[in-house]
Amino acid sequence: MDHLRIYNTLDSTNKEAQRLLIGGPVENGTSLMAREQTDGRGQLGRKWFADSGSHLAMSIILVPHHLAVSELPLIGMKTSLGIAKALMQLDFTLAPQIKWPNDIYLQGKKLCGILIENALAGNTVQHIIIGIGMNVNERIFPEEIPNPVSLFMITGQQNDLYEMAQLIRQHVIETVDTPDLYWKQEYDELLYAKNEEREFLYEGNTIKAKILGVDEQGRILLGFGGGLTRSFYSHEIKWLMP
Ligand code: BTN
Repeated sequence: MDHLRIYNTLDSTNKEAQRLLIGGPVENGTSLMAREQTDGRGQLGRKWFADSGSHLAMSIILVPHHLAVSELPLIGMKTSLGIAKALMQLDFTLAPQIKWPNDIYLQGKKLCGILIENALAGNTVQHIIIGIGMNVNERIFPEEIPNPVSLFMITGQQNDLYEMAQLIRQHVIETVDTPDLYWKQEYDELLYAKNEEREFLYEGNTIKAKILGVDEQGRILLGFGGGLTRSFYSHEIKWLMP
């Protein structure tokens, strides 16, 4: 099977990845991209807007030998680090930031989102589908999209979607394979709003806290003044900004 398959039109690259996996064994790292995605999905069951020909919609399939379920949050975070590295290789003047846990921001706006879907067998992970949606060549966005930006809007350059997909695939696979010791420091350096106060939703209440970093489990570490700190998993806390 080709390492990066291109489709003209798909409902969703993540759904096609699921169909491939149902069809039989799939090699680790097999990836797919669609020039047009008609039914893309985002986090929290939202629809994902993908402007045909401008947007990069891709999925990378990982088939780990042995990965514990507890390590799953790190896959999304390492993926976003890999994407940030791909962007820096594309153009060293870009300064991507990672909005915890795994959105990529440029100049305070969302460039790229990630949707991870897995299949589990007991306490181990059978496969992981990493769905990546990046605004590459868009010039405008529909008004209802909150806080978007494209690479073109920042650099004034058009990028070839297939070449972008190859670059991202290479960096994501490399970063996901990096031992845990190394990724955390690099991630922390790119962390969006680090050392700044932001509002979050926690158990139905708005809380305000300083973002201090992330820990080895992939939790965000927040400071509440008076030396009080606490870490949160991404299912426990939500940003109160897009
Ligand atoms: C988010 O909500 O931030 C995550 C968006 C992920 C979108 C990508 S586009 C390629 C892949 N296929 C999908 O249906 N979704 C993901």
